[in-house]
Amino acid sequence: MASTNSRTIIISLLCFHLFFFISQALVPSSETFTLVNQGDFGDYIVEYGANYRAISIYRDPFQGCFYNTTPNAYTLALRMGTVRSENTMRWVWEANRGKPVRENATFSLGRDGNLVLAEADGEVVWQTNTANKGVVRFEVLQNGNMVLLNSKGGFVWQSFSSPTDTLLVGQSLLAGGVSKLVSRASEENNNDGPYTFVMEPQRIALYYKSSISTRPTVYWAENEEIGNNRTLTNLTLISEPRYADDLSIYLLYFLFNTTNKDPEQSTPPSSFAAIARYNTTLTYLRLGIDGNLRYFTFRLDVYNFAWDRVYTFLNRDTDNNECQLPERCGKFGLCEDSQCVACPTPNGLSGWSKDCEAKKVTSCKASEFHYYKLEGVDHYMIKYTTGDVTKQSKCESKCTSDCKCLGYFFHTDQSRCWIAYDLKTLTRVGNSTNLAYIKTPNK
Ligand SMILES: *[C@@H]1O[C@H](CO)[C@@H](O)[C@H](O)[C@H]1NC(C)=O
Ligand SMILES: *[C@@H]1O[C@H](CO)[C@@H](O)[C@H](O)[C@H]1NC(C)=O
Ligand SMILES: *[C@@H]1O[C@H](CO)[C@@H](O)[C@H](O)[C@H]1NC(C)=O
Ligand SMILES: *[C@@H]1O[C@H](CO)[C@@H](O)[C@H](O)[C@H]1NC(C)=O
Ligand SMILES: *[C@@H]1O[C@H](CO)[C@@H](O)[C@H](O)[C@H]1NC(C)=O
Ligand SMILES: *[C@@H]1O[C@H](CO)[C@@H](O)[C@H](O)[C@H]1NC(C)=O
Repeated sequence: MASTNSRTIIISLLCFHLFFFISQALVPSSETFTLVNQGDFGDYIVEYGANYRAISIYRDPFQGCFYNTTPNAYTLALRMGTVRSENTMRWVWEANRGKPVRENATFSLGRDGNLVLAEADGEVVWQTNTANKGVVRFEVLQNGNMVLLNSKGGFVWQSFSSPTDTLLVGQSLLAGGVSKLVSRASEENNNDGPYTFVMEPQRIALYYKSSISTRPTVYWAENEEIGNNRTLTNLTLISEPRYADDLSIYLLYFLFNTTNKDPEQSTPPSSFAAIARYNTTLTYLRLGIDGNLRYFTFRLDVYNFAWDRVYTFLNRDTDNNECQLPERCGKFGLCEDSQCVACPTPNGLSGWSKDCEAKKVTSCKASEFHYYKLEGVDHYMIKYTTGDVTKQSKCESKCTSDCKCLGYFFHTDQSRCWIAYDLKTLTRVGNSTNLAYIKTPNK
């Protein structure tokens, strides 16, 4: 009895080990790597005026690098562009926004298949969490997607699943995955900025959240192509020839995957974006530091200045010009046709400058502030939030009793009220029914 038992145990153990060995294929030593953040900086001009060290992750026109914009605070990133000094190379993917690494940090693929970014002392800063998941190899694909492959060629992990502020052609936002892009704080500061581009169930939208506002405010949105009855699950950036038999014209657009597909709709919904008379395969979408969305294409058929800004979402020629960008005119300014035209003050409009700012109301006491009126202006939130229907006196008392309220907006024709926790950019509209009342201290 005893010997049968122990034999069973030995056989089970053998089977278990065999099973373990097969299912947990290790990364062959020749495919592992440890890349160290040390050595001289590269010579070429790159985005944000950064210093960089190229590492041996490469597939033309993509190059892995450690870069820094402030001393000893490095981002591990993928760069796009070719080595010609005239073309600033751009960062199209990053691992560690807001969590910079120091000198001698390592980026490594171990035999267990986990891809790890760690400090020199071993502290893990970022990882793919793919240990013992059957990874056999790392590869940079032609479209800039970095992948960890299993023995069947399937993706165990892909960089396309973790965008930050950039989408390459073929890359997606996913409900249940990363469903938004977050802007960068500034050229120098690689932390989250105030803007987000969000794929929502019924629309795509741009949001702004300043340090003082209580919640994000929509300043641009689009929904007409999606339909009320459907829910967005996947948005993919597509570049393709407009006609199968004419490869000279390319389309760039978002392909939407939705639930409840309309049976009468032969093609999935999409969002028109741009047409170009050249190959737009090497394009990325960027949510910029200024909150605008832009497509940039790298053109292999051009020598100098090969980057083309193919399309800007908020631009002079659309209903939503740059005046919809919350910080277009700084802390406080009046915008018209994408230009900052005036600085609204209690004594009327004065010339705009970057220093325009509303006087701070420091007291919550109604006896210590009053409002001044502006006519024919709107706030960026008005287009995409309906406002409450109420009397103007109610609207004002709501703002007065709310210390955080900096002013209110009122449309007299519909008696609609909006409370503002941020002023920033106001848009001039040719409509005297659109009023703004800005809080200002009595002295
Ligand atoms: C990085 O490592 C190299 C060699 O291992 C060493 O000489 C150098 O001092 C290290 N740099 C820092 C900043 O620790
Ligand atoms: C909404 O979806 C349901 C079921 O999927 C369908 O029966 C209905 O006709 C749809 N309505 C519209 C307006 O498309
Ligand atoms: C997202 O949509 C694209 C294009 O339709 C498709 O290739 C991709 O597999 C989809 N991803 C997921 C996770 O559904
Ligand atoms: C669309 O999304 C569904 C659910 O996420 C998925 O099963 C399907 O494969 C996707 N279709 C395409 C074309 O990506
Ligand atoms: C478009 O550019 C991509 C990337 O360089 C290339 O692979 C593809 O062959 C080009 N298409 C045509 C029709 O030239
Ligand atoms: C003012 O706004 C009202 C309602 O929103 C609109 O009907 C009217 O045409 C506008 N007038 C001008 C001059 O834009």
